[in-house]
Amino acid sequence: MTGPIKSLDARYYTDPEVFKLETGGLLARTWQFGCHASDLAKTGDYATFEIAGESLFAIRGRDDKIRVFYNVCQHRAHQLVSGTGTTRVVVCPYHAWTYELSGELRAGPNIKAVEGFDKSSVCLTEVRVEEFLGFVFVNLDPNAAPMEDWFPGARAELEEWVPNWAELKPLEWVEIPENCNWKVSVENYSECYHCSLNHPTFANGVVKPETYDIHPQGKCLRHTTECQALDQMTYDINSGFAHSHEYSSWFLWPMFSFQVYPGNVLNTYHWRAIDADHVVVWRGWYSVGGVDDEKVRKLAQQDRATTVEEDIHLVESVHRGLKSRGYVPGPLVVDPKGGVNSEHPVMHLQRWMKEAIDG
Ligand code: FES
Ligand SMILES: [Fe+2]
Repeated sequence: MTGPIKSLDARYYTDPEVFKLETGGLLARTWQFGCHASDLAKTGDYATFEIAGESLFAIRGRDDKIRVFYNVCQHRAHQLVSGTGTTRVVVCPYHAWTYELSGELRAGPNIKAVEGFDKSSVCLTEVRVEEFLGFVFVNLDPNAAPMEDWFPGARAELEEWVPNWAELKPLEWVEIPENCNWKVSVENYSECYHCSLNHPTFANGVVKPETYDIHPQGKCLRHTTECQALDQMTYDINSGFAHSHEYSSWFLWPMFSFQVYPGNVLNTYHWRAIDADHVVVWRGWYSVGGVDDEKVRKLAQQDRATTVEEDIHLVESVHRGLKSRGYVPGPLVVDPKGGVNSEHPVMHLQRWMKEAIDG
């Protein structure tokens, strides 16, 4: 008998050195959300974003392929682009070297004067990219396994739950700053042991709490539940698609989650770690063509006012508590049968979190 599994030591959440290790390690070795493919609708469209402290940009090539590059010129390291936009070629603002949309050096003022200058040896540094239901994911590790190996079956399931994903565009992003470590927020998202006490809309709402469960599927944490009282929904859930009467979610380790509400309404969580004590959660909401959709807007508002608001207070209190000298990590409530009142998903998360730091 080894006794119950203890929650992770507080220093993993509060120590700035741990955060530094995560930035250079975990964030650079996992699949991270970059931008939505609808930002890159046409040839030459680009969008910049930051991952693991690195500036990157995604750009759509003449072959229609989305590529992602480090946002740095191969001449003398000036930044190439900022924000979003569209361009025929990538021109560095420092000395006007130009690159093809596929990253090869195309021209540079007076480079022909340099004897032995081999243009073909200069190319922007490309990183691994995968499009996942219109979401552009990036992995800075050139040897990373494909997303299908990390999250087996998740893509196929999501395509079933969101059959019109190719038509969806972001309608709005709700930004939620939280004064806590990103892992506190992710753990809170990944267990429902706290739900009956803290989320009245959860306990008395759409889902049947006693059927709620969360199971690892590779490094995806899959939330499933049965629903009840669907006749009392505030919107019409009859989408004509399969699974319209279900709720489901797919958390992709370490910082992204897809949720599908009844009526096949897609919404997402994207955690952005700022430092050891701050995270910003972006709630993404989508509609066909990105046109205003009252149903989706109402859902976003309702979610912000209930679940999100209730969770902010929980995670911020936990983060303060993790800094208390009086805190001794307690046992996790892991029920071998799983279920809504079991913290087994936290146990899995904490193993992945510890592995990322201690190897
Ligand atoms: S640094 Fe980009 S052209 Fe010189
Ligand atoms: Fe919660």
